Amino acid sequence: MKKIIAVVLSLCVVLGCASFAIASDATIEKDYVVSEKIRNVSVTMAQDSQSSVGVCWHTDEESATAVQFVIAEDYAGTFEGAKTFRGSCESFKEIYVHKVKLTALKPGTEYLYRVGDDVADEWSEIRSFTTDNGDENFKFIAITDVQAGNEDNFRKASNVMKTAYETMPDADFFAHMGDYVNDCTQEEWDWYFNNFNFVHSSLVHVPAAGNHDGNITNKINHYWFDSMFNMDPPEECIRAEGVYYAFDYGNAHIVVLNTNDMYPMTVQQTNWIKNEMNSSDAQWKIILMHRAFYSAGKNLIKPDTIIMREQLLPLFDELDIDFVMAGHDHVYMRTHQVKGDKLVEDVTYVTEDFNGVETTFAVDPDGACHVLPGTAGTKTYSINDYVFDCVFDSNIVANCFSQRDIGDRGIFSTVEIQGGKLVYNAYAVDYETGEKELVDTYAIKKTTEGEASDKTMLPTDSATTGVAQTFNFIYRFGKMFFDYLFIIIPKLIINAI
Ligand SMILES: [Fe+2]
Repeated sequence: MKKIIAVVLSLCVVLGCASFAIASDATIEKDYVVSEKIRNVSVTMAQDSQSSVGVCWHTDEESATAVQFVIAEDYAGTFEGAKTFRGSCESFKEIYVHKVKLTALKPGTEYLYRVGDDVADEWSEIRSFTTDNGDENFKFIAITDVQAGNEDNFRKASNVMKTAYETMPDADFFAHMGDYVNDCTQEEWDWYFNNFNFVHSSLVHVPAAGNHDGNITNKINHYWFDSMFNMDPPEECIRAEGVYYAFDYGNAHIVVLNTNDMYPMTVQQTNWIKNEMNSSDAQWKIILMHRAFYSAGKNLIKPDTIIMREQLLPLFDELDIDFVMAGHDHVYMRTHQVKGDKLVEDVTYVTEDFNGVETTFAVDPDGACHVLPGTAGTKTYSINDYVFDCVFDSNIVANCFSQRDIGDRGIFSTVEIQGGKLVYNAYAVDYETGEKELVDTYAIKKTTEGEASDKTMLPTDSATTGVAQTFNFIYRFGKMFFDYLFIIIPKLIINAI
């Protein structure tokens, strides 16, 4: 009966679619009173991770916008004489959004900073961030889909993040693959920032836009995501329903996609992805995005997922992407190496020491590994195994489970790159006690250097790509309906019988 209901629902879908902190806030003496007017402060990765960051915060009233910063080891108990950068203050809904871009920073350097109003002399607490030193070793924490609708669930997700930070206290940054909030109200974003301030106060952030973070598929709520963080997208990026951007970190080129740009993804963004990856000679090519191609949750056979898989999977193969991290479906999944939507079978493995742990690496494997690290939040989905095979070959799945089946715990993951080695780990965490358990691990070793392609840069403005965009729209929709009618629905029916 469950299977029949699933088929009916699927048909409906188709038809319907037409003291970590601051290094040390506790120990740094302040010679001023901290203003309570300033909230939701974050530092976000810029295109040049060695010399620049974006700072963002919110206030309820319009005010001057400034950041004062100093190299941490030069700090002598006062910001007198510190550099001051000024930025923009813009009204958004019921708040004012302050953004400042800090530039000409020194690589591999910890800075202390405060944000605020340099006219009224009202400032935040002292916070910190560290720039990329550019060497081939770095590590980051990734979480996704906190997506809470009340403060207690943000608290539970923040306990998962606290354990992540304890596990990797020397992380260079932390990424979130989208859906920070559920209904995208300012109250929810305030809850998010209140509960995650401990990590935003000392670690650079890499945000990816989720469909709940202000997107037309949930409600018409333009520019929410862009108003929460100070990201560094290309000039032509339309920020209304998410933001895409890219940066080098160490020996990796990391592209953060806006998968709210869909039905289908615009030619502007896909051309930009090609330009970014083709022109990079980084050894590692990594994608962070919200909507996952490989999952087993309820979104697996929705039209947006079907269209994006068709459109982006060949692109990722063409661009030799190594590692893809996504979110959206609130289940855990990691694939084996995948190329052409198929399992890469001839992978060679070697077991070597990595930080004192015997680790098995896939050596120079073809294709990419796709990871969907569940959710750090409390909203979890069950596994839709009866639709699994209707969309992709289940042989590619290396690890898949519902968090409901492991005692309802949140998940965070870590990625560490040391030269040609990449090691990924995922941990399940008790929302209350913070107790963690390693639930998955995977590693890749590359013996080849990265190489930029000599391909011509493609146009990324809407005027030049207009014709291609129209063709792309018609083709992608046509292909989606074809896939549903002749591949997916027949398989659903056969599986249900
Ligand atoms: Fe989502």
